[in-house]
Amino acid sequence: MRILIAAITTLTMTVSIAAIAHEGAQGIVKERMDGMKAIGQQVKIMVPMMKGTLPYDPATVEESAGIIETHAGEQFTKLFPDGSHEKPSEALPDIWEDWSKFTDLASQLERSAAELKTVAANNGPEGDFKGALGNVLKTCKSCHRDFRE
Ligand code: HEC
Repeated sequence: MRILIAAITTLTMTVSIAAIAHEGAQGIVKERMDGMKAIGQQVKIMVPMMKGTLPYDPATVEESAGIIETHAGEQFTKLFPDGSHEKPSEALPDIWEDWSKFTDLASQLERSAAELKTVAANNGPEGDFKGALGNVLKTCKSCHRDFRE
């Protein structure tokens, strides 16, 4: 858990730097960056609950997980027309070389967010929330490692 939290802190820091670097993006690239930004914001809302610095609030988690879900899966991958990786995009050309792996990860994000939403909606134990959020965060890491600069 500690390692995961450290990874998340790094992720959130990288996120704010990326936000500055990406002014000037347009069209579909801007659209997908905005989607990712929205996802990043939801993660920032939920991670303090995972760390225990804020009380676990299932209603908020349900809403945040729902927002992530709507920006994942095909809603996300359809914003990657062939070869659209020019600056300021940080997308790597590997996306189109390994399209099935990329789309798999995008649907993993969708599924794990849906699972997190269900866990929160059922108001189950806090441990289940942490596990489900952990699964969501694993997909961010895997996809960024392989497909983002
Ligand atoms: C299926 C792959 C994939 C998954 C899963 C994924 N990302 Fe991304 N993410 C990308 C790619 C590709 C980019 C770069 C997009 C670009 O610059 O064109 C990106 C960019 C970002 C950005 C920068 C947005 C900006 O302003 O430019 C943030 C923030 C981000 N992701 C957060 C997350 C978080 C948080 C998760 C998990 C909850 C996540 N991502 C899951 C592929 C993914």
